Amino acid sequence: MIKAIIFDLDGVLVSTDHFHYLAWKKLADREGIEFDEKINNRLRGVSRMASLNIILEKAKRTYTPSQKEEMAHFKNEYYVSLIRRMTPEDVEPVVLHTLETLKKRGLKLAVASSSKNAPLILKVTGLTSFFDVIVDGTMIKNSKPDPEVFLLAQKLLQAKKEEALVVEDAVVGIEAAHQGGMKAAAIKDATKDEQADYLLSNLGDLLEISGSVV
Ligand code: BG6
Ligand code: MG
Repeated sequence: MIKAIIFDLDGVLVSTDHFHYLAWKKLADREGIEFDEKINNRLRGVSRMASLNIILEKAKRTYTPSQKEEMAHFKNEYYVSLIRRMTPEDVEPVVLHTLETLKKRGLKLAVASSSKNAPLILKVTGLTSFFDVIVDGTMIKNSKPDPEVFLLAQKLLQAKKEEALVVEDAVVGIEAAHQGGMKAAAIKDATKDEQADYLLSNLGDLLEISGSVV
């Protein structure tokens, strides 16, 4: 029986994945580096610096560590200016309904995100209070597909691995959940990963799954 659900944030609970795309695109355009949605999909679940290194694979020149710091900062400043404009209205009704119902059913809920901005996003969208545990990018050393972020959430929730379900929009996130010994439900881009235990057409599908035996 599933007793705990561990949610990725960007692209699962809120559409901040699009803001990440816009911010990286602004940087890539400034530097004259090719960047598109396909490359963007490789950044899902990947830390800020590791994402920059993926983008720089297409660069025609090399960059020093301090130039990379400046670029990551430039991207983040613009990204944060976009998320600061978010309000509770930016949470899809199906997401709110799902979280409310899972909470009423007594499931333990966590957010496990690679983002250092996760607490700010949860605050501006009014979602913070749904979660018993919030693990963000400042609390981990290794990015997905390393299972660190999910294992920390599972530990802090005091849930058994076999009773926890991870929800992810990143293929590397599905891999991370499995490496951590937990089941994974895929949504959006991650549904192309055939390894996922469940495929969600929207977050509301969790309401059926969470009542089932895994
Ligand atoms: C993940 C996103 O949630 O957080 C990645 O999927 C992002 O795209 C990563 O790079 C780090 O985010 P931030 O906000 O710390 O730059
Ligand atoms: Mg994500």
